[in-house]
Amino acid sequence: MLITLDNLLSQSQVIEAKAMLEQADWVDGKTTAGHLALDCKNNLQLPTNSVEAQQLGDFILARLQDHPVFNSAALANKILPPMFNCYQGSGNFGNHIDNAIRVIPGSLNQIRTDISITVFLSEPESYEGGELIIEDTYGQQSVKLKAGDAILYPSTSTHRVNPVTQGRRLASFFWIQSLIRSDEQRRILFDLDQSIQSLTATNKGADEIVKLTGVYHNLLRQWSET
Ligand code: NI
Repeated sequence: MLITLDNLLSQSQVIEAKAMLEQADWVDGKTTAGHLALDCKNNLQLPTNSVEAQQLGDFILARLQDHPVFNSAALANKILPPMFNCYQGSGNFGNHIDNAIRVIPGSLNQIRTDISITVFLSEPESYEGGELIIEDTYGQQSVKLKAGDAILYPSTSTHRVNPVTQGRRLASFFWIQSLIRSDEQRRILFDLDQSIQSLTATNKGADEIVKLTGVYHNLLRQWSET
């Protein structure tokens, strides 16, 4: 499933983030590409040990923890520290599927990539192209969000970033290992949780809500891996 997180960062937080990224030292994105992606990746990235990447990454993670839709949709177990990229001058990233396993930088710990996330940091009208194209269950989706919004999509999907022919596209991207490996099961839990939340707003304390909440947790118990 594709889920948009609206206003993960506010407008003023986006301006601050961009000011930090403007003065950072960027490197060729091929340094972190898997061998199959090497030929089709053409962008800039911040080194994972750069001060800007670490500070901004921590800030984004804190914002995610407070985002109700994120918690309901991702059921995160582990999150890779956010990385940052920049596409300009016809930079693009051709069709690929993300590596299944990634090592958390500076450690021996690995995470399985169940969910990919992109946080858009440039206003869509400030650059041409740069759409994130995702092959979803129901066909191709073209994603180009307002600065500060983010998209969650299954890491199993083929995706690409169209060439940025004018302007500059800054974004943060990273991966999540979910408590629920299957995208289909995550969708069921998300729909159930969202429905329970809406019902709670209008029928607080109803026996049915207590039962449905129990069903949610019993499914989570059956399906989760911690
Ligand atoms: Ni990718």
